[in-house]
Amino acid sequence: MSVAIIQGASGGQGLALASHLLRHTGLRVYALTHGKAKVLEEKLVSESGEGKGSGSGERLSVLGGVDIREEDGLEKAAKTVREREGKSSVRLVACMAGILQPEKSLSAINLDTALDAFRINTLGHLLTYKHFVPLIPTRRDLADLAKSWREDDNNADPAGGVISPENSLCWSMSARVGSIADNQKGGWYSYRSSKAALNQILVNKSSSAIAIAYHPGTVLTPFSQRVVGSDAKPDPPHGRFSVQQGVEHMLGVMKRVRRDEEWGGGFFDWEGKRVEW
Ligand SMILES: NC(=O)c1ccc[n+]([C@@H]2O[C@H](COP(=O)([O-])OP(=O)(O)OC[C@H]3O[C@@H](n4cnc5c(N)ncnc54)[C@H](OP(=O)(O)O)[C@@H]3O)[C@@H](O)[C@H]2O)c1
Repeated sequence: MSVAIIQGASGGQGLALASHLLRHTGLRVYALTHGKAKVLEEKLVSESGEGKGSGSGERLSVLGGVDIREEDGLEKAAKTVREREGKSSVRLVACMAGILQPEKSLSAINLDTALDAFRINTLGHLLTYKHFVPLIPTRRDLADLAKSWREDDNNADPAGGVISPENSLCWSMSARVGSIADNQKGGWYSYRSSKAALNQILVNKSSSAIAIAYHPGTVLTPFSQRVVGSDAKPDPPHGRFSVQQGVEHMLGVMKRVRRDEEWGGGFFDWEGKRVEW
């Protein structure tokens, strides 16, 4: 079976990614949320356009109460996936969680809030990989899995082209402001440094999965509201997008990732352009 793990599936971009995978691929989707499973399940069933018991509903499992500041929820979630789907089942681990405290001056730094940024934006992604990367197929397992697709009636990879059939994908939502090379203005200390540290984690030389740090542009979700305001409108020429536009860009980039020089891991923006670390 081919599984996508969407950590942070309750957020603007996580919800859109999970519902796209339910609507347009045959992947089994494990949607992880910090909040209550029932609430997210209802949202995802209605967003993905089918009721439980029909195609996409049957492929959805929502695991609630997974706060990535704590390890035990992630450990339990990975155990559930392993028991239900087997140990070489995971094709995509997407870490979507993130928080922003936009400090403008050193005097605005609060230790507890800054620590939370690191626990969620950096170490939460690292712990998610700690528990789910062992469920990613080796290259040999993936080749065996591919044989089972060929034996299928549809003869097709359940990922439907969203992930290359030749690799699995570790995908973390980073941000251009985490680029040290690109930092012209300073400020936003905890967010910038937590994303820069996340990027370091994403430098990965594993042979079984490709790891990508991704900058989505400004996407109009609760996350960006505190910076652009709640009545901001999409403005694509200036890099500001609706959630729908954001998820289309994200999928466009995911689909291009290949095990080659150009795409075999790194930091990319919504246009598929490399961002300097
Ligand atoms: N939106 C933008 O313009 C923009 C720009 C650059 C980068 N990004 C990055 O994109 C990612 C997704 O952001 P978004 O726009 O979709 O924001 P969002 O709607 O605010 O979603 C944030 C997600 O983080 C999760 N989260 C927060 N604390 C958590 C915790 N302790 N444990 C588990 N999950 C937790 C939230 O889950 P709960 O609801 O369950 O708490 C929610 O699913 C973030 O990493 C962000 O840094 C966003």
